[in-house]
Amino acid sequence: MARQFFVGGNFKMNPASRDAKRKLVDALNQATLDPSVEVVIAPPSLYLLPVAELVRNNVKVAAQNCYVKLSGAFTGEISPAQLADAGIPYVILGHSERRTIFHESSELVAEKTRVALDNGLSVILCVGETLQEREANRTAEVVQEQLKPVVKLLKDADWAKVVIAYEPVWAIGTGKVATSAQAQQAHADIRAFLAQSVSPAVAESTRIIYGGSVTAANCRELATQPDVDGFLVGGASLKPEFVDIVNARQ
Ligand code: G3P
Repeated sequence: MARQFFVGGNFKMNPASRDAKRKLVDALNQATLDPSVEVVIAPPSLYLLPVAELVRNNVKVAAQNCYVKLSGAFTGEISPAQLADAGIPYVILGHSERRTIFHESSELVAEKTRVALDNGLSVILCVGETLQEREANRTAEVVQEQLKPVVKLLKDADWAKVVIAYEPVWAIGTGKVATSAQAQQAHADIRAFLAQSVSPAVAESTRIIYGGSVTAANCRELATQPDVDGFLVGGASLKPEFVDIVNARQ
């Protein structure tokens, strides 16, 4: 079956002003985007509602994180129920910056995934190894350890609302993009793990996207790989070249 190509833009803690945010979305609204591609942009939480009001071109909006509880005394957190109530359809979970800077475990990411899905959100689930782990040939092992708690908590049907983002930590924000062969191998290993631990059908239908220094210059070759179903873009999502990345297969 054909998996719909997916391109996400993770703005992270950018841009720094409402004016810059408005300009970014206006430029995307004026662009000609490949209509076959699912496009999702993830602004900072403060901008979620204004961006959701502004976007056109069938572009969707994602939160960059959410908490594991629905309400209560959790200062600074955002509830998946609040996101769903606000009409925000996607949430990024398990980004390596959440795992390293904010010490999120794979078990917590799995619980957040479960609660997000229970509240009607779709999830962009991030996994990926460090340079040390790759150099120790532990990439597949590390990624499977990150996925196993999620596999335990999800039913087969849940996977239809999950996009897996393979983001090697050593490629994030470094300019050192994975080679097509490295990305393809990691994605194929993830798909094989899903086939063995969930089902062949889920493995075949789940989109696995690549993130880590994707640019207009390298996206076309990466997009030719059979198990690369799209991208999760950081820095380049704040630039006009994000449109070229969306249109990588044209
Ligand atoms: O979530 C995507 C992000 O981690 C990739 O960042 O700047 O390397 O494209 P960047």
